[in-house]
Amino acid sequence: MSTYILGIESSCDDTSAAVISDTTILSNVIASQKVHAEYGGVVPELASRAHQQNIIPVVDTALKRANIHKNQISAIGFTNGPGLLGSLLVGNSFAKAMAFSLDVPLIEVNHLQAHVLANFLSKKDVDSPKPRFPFLCLTVSGGHTLLLKVNDYFDMQRLGGTIDDAAGEAFDKAAKIMGLPYPGGPVIDKLAADGDPNRFQFSIAHLPDLDYSFSGLKTSFLYFVRDRLKENPNFIQENLNDLAASIQHSIIKSLTNKMIQAIKQYDCPDVVLAGGVSANKGLRNAMQDVANRYHRNLILPTIDLTTDNAAMIAVCAYFKYQKKEFTTLDAVPYSSQN
Ligand code: KG4
Ligand code: ZN
Repeated sequence: MSTYILGIESSCDDTSAAVISDTTILSNVIASQKVHAEYGGVVPELASRAHQQNIIPVVDTALKRANIHKNQISAIGFTNGPGLLGSLLVGNSFAKAMAFSLDVPLIEVNHLQAHVLANFLSKKDVDSPKPRFPFLCLTVSGGHTLLLKVNDYFDMQRLGGTIDDAAGEAFDKAAKIMGLPYPGGPVIDKLAADGDPNRFQFSIAHLPDLDYSFSGLKTSFLYFVRDRLKENPNFIQENLNDLAASIQHSIIKSLTNKMIQAIKQYDCPDVVLAGGVSANKGLRNAMQDVANRYHRNLILPTIDLTTDNAAMIAVCAYFKYQKKEFTTLDAVPYSSQN
């Protein structure tokens, strides 16, 4: 008999609910909050309020699209952190109330683990390769840049990470400097497709070990653009595609350099990407080149499973359900990883 898991994600600015049957997605509904665009970033107070408005219709739609009744749900998984506390509290409280009323297990999920485990999700009638343990996984999102050696579903060894900005933050801040809307990552991705990645050079950090740093890159981009604008007020508009391609190239270079270093250090046949930035076409292509060069097998989440979604929360809960790792009603959300 199938296990049906309802997953709920509300850690940042997407309210999402999904139903999976074992590891197969039956529905994955995402309400993205438009309200933040005019502020150039997520406004936590507005995010919590929007989650509050979205959560019931989103869960309702997820159940309908999955074509199952709420009484068929085996367990409810929800994101308990890291994320914005006010946003997390909405999903946390809703999941507790619903699990309590249906008398089904409640399962808390770590958002970062869920991004990694999104690679174990399947779509109906689609055969996709799954990572084999142990594998290397680069999780790149708006809040995190983490290089992991994943030994098992919940045994993830941190090999390196950013010491300042996350890769997604670097994309978003560069986009802001160019006057592009938030979130800037997907906009830069699109513009970069028609630009020259080698037109402008920006300094990338060379940290020891497997750590990353993106704040220097952002500053060098900011000063470069500011100086050019003094000479030509139309500099950004006239060079938008090349600027996007060049900054994207620098971010990708930094990510692939460390992946190459990790591949040489750890003997893992599979290399995996996770998180919102793994939607980036340039990064996907560059990692494929790395994998080919070092005879590794690259596994990528489908684009819709890279950014925040509840199916990844549900699959993480599914693996915990199998181990009977349940959560009690006194679970408190946490904002940071540690
Ligand atoms: O994983 P995610 O949805 O949320 C967090 O957990 O942070 O990642 C969002 C981040 C944002 O910084 C966004 O700009 C970036 O992922 N992103 C992209 C692309 N799509 C989303 N960055 C580069 N290229 C993309 N195509
Ligand atoms: Zn995320």
